[in-house]
Amino acid sequence: MIPFYIETYGCQMNVSDSQVVAALLADTGYEPCQSLEEARVVLINTCSIRENAEQRVWGRLDVFRQLKRRNPELRVGVLGCMATRLKDELLKHPAVDWVVGPDSYRMLPRLMNPSALIGNELSPVQTKLSMKETYADVMPVHNLSGGVSAFVTIMRGCNNMCAYCVVPYVRGGERSRDPFSIEREVRNLVEDGFGEVTLLGQNVDSYCWQNPETGETTDFARLLERVAGISPGLRVRFTTSHPKDMNDNVLYAMARWSNICRHIHLPVQSGSDAMLQKMNRKYTRASYLQRIARIREILPDCAITSDMIAGFCSETEEDHLLTLSLMREVRYDQAFMFQYSERPNTYAARHYSDDVPADVKTRRLNEIIALQNELSMESNKADIGRVFEVLVEGESRRSADEYFGRTGTAKVCVFPRENCKTGDYVQVQVTSCTPATLLGKIV
Ligand code: SAH
Ligand code: SF4
Ligand code: F3S
Repeated sequence: MIPFYIETYGCQMNVSDSQVVAALLADTGYEPCQSLEEARVVLINTCSIRENAEQRVWGRLDVFRQLKRRNPELRVGVLGCMATRLKDELLKHPAVDWVVGPDSYRMLPRLMNPSALIGNELSPVQTKLSMKETYADVMPVHNLSGGVSAFVTIMRGCNNMCAYCVVPYVRGGERSRDPFSIEREVRNLVEDGFGEVTLLGQNVDSYCWQNPETGETTDFARLLERVAGISPGLRVRFTTSHPKDMNDNVLYAMARWSNICRHIHLPVQSGSDAMLQKMNRKYTRASYLQRIARIREILPDCAITSDMIAGFCSETEEDHLLTLSLMREVRYDQAFMFQYSERPNTYAARHYSDDVPADVKTRRLNEIIALQNELSMESNKADIGRVFEVLVEGESRRSADEYFGRTGTAKVCVFPRENCKTGDYVQVQVTSCTPATLLGKIV
C-alpha cells in the first residue's frame, strides 16, 4: 500500500471531496497516512474564494518543494477549485506533478500510476467540468479526520452567478445527487455510529432530482424529511440556504422533525439594495427580512447565521451602514465576515471597479465584526440557564478535563467531562458564555 496525505483548504464541500478522493484511492492500492513525512503522495485540495485562500496554498507548495528536495520520490497533486482556475499555471510550480479539478477525481488512480505519463497518454492537468458527475456511487472515507459528525454532499456546482463569486467558474453548473444514494450513505453513517450529518450544497434550496423512470421529482424539503426519517437519533443539518430560494416547505419540514437542527445559515452579504442588485443576489433587503420573519414565526427557537462582504465595488458609507442596521434588525447568532476580494474573470472583475480603498474595507469589516461580537454575546447570554442537547465532539482545547460539542443551534459548548464519551448526546445547562462559546454543565 502506498501512503498518501491529503491537506484540505476551503469550505466543507472540499472536506467532503477529500473523503471522496480517499475512497477512490483506497480502492486502488493507496492508504491515508497521518503525517506529511510518511507520505509518498501529497494531495492539496484548494480554494479560490478569496485571494488570501490562494496565497496560503502557494505557500504550502513551497513547503512541498523543500520536502521533495529531501525525498525525490514524493509526488504532489493539486486538487480543487484552484486546479480549475489556474490549470497549467500550477504545473509550472516545481513541486506540482498533477493538477486535478473537482469533477475529475475518478482520473486520479490512473494519473498517479507511474506509467501513466509515459508516452503522453494522459495529461497531468485534468480540469474539465461536468454537468453529470456527483460521485453518487462513491462511499466517502468519513473517518479520514475522525469525528462524530459527517458531511454528505447532496449537490455540486452552482448556477447563481453572484457577481463577486468564483464558485460557478471553478465548480461548474449545479447538479443534484440522486436521493437513494444519499439515503444509502446516511444509513451507513448511522451504522458506523455517526450522530450527525450535514447535507451540503452551494444552494440546497434548489436541490431537485427527477427520477428518470417515474418522472417524479424530489425537492429539498422532501429530501430533508427522507433523511430525517432514517433514524430519530441522528441529528440533521444543512448548508447553505439561499434567501431567494428558501421556502416555507423547508421550514415546515424542520418544524415536523425534532432531529433537524434549529439552525439556518442564510447569508445576506449586504444590507443595501443597491449592493444586493449589483451582486446579483436576486433578493432585496425587504424580501430577506420577510424570510427572516417567516423563520421566526414557524421556528421561534431557530438560530440564524450569515455571511457578510465588506467593501464590494462602489459600496458607500451609507450602504455599509445599511449592512450594520440589517444585522441589528436580524440579530444574527453568528456570522462569517469578509473583505471583498476581486476574483479574476468574475462578472464583478469584468464590469465593476474594485474601488473601495483597502483601509476603508478593513475599517468597515472591523465595524461589522465588532457589531457581530456584540450580537453573538447577546445571543449567548440569552441561553444562560437553558438546557441544550449537545453532541460530544471531543476534548476541549483548553483542558483534558473538559469536553466540547455543539448545540442544535450550532453553538460551541464547553463543559466538564463527567461520565460521557465522544459521540454521546448529553444535556448541558448553560451557566456562562463568551461571544464565541457557551460554558455549562451536564444535567
Ligand atoms: N453558496 C454560498 C456560499 C459560498 S462562498 C452562498 O451563496 O452564500 C462563502 C462566502 O464567501 C460567501 O457567502 C461570501 O460571503 C464569501 N465570498 C464569496 N466570494 C467572495 C469574494 N470574492 N470576496 C469576499 N468574500 C467572498
Ligand atoms: Fe457563489 Fe452565489 Fe453560488 Fe454562493 S450562490 S456559491 S455566493 S455564486
Ligand atoms: Fe469551497 Fe473555496 Fe471552492 S469556498 S467551492 S473550496 S472556491
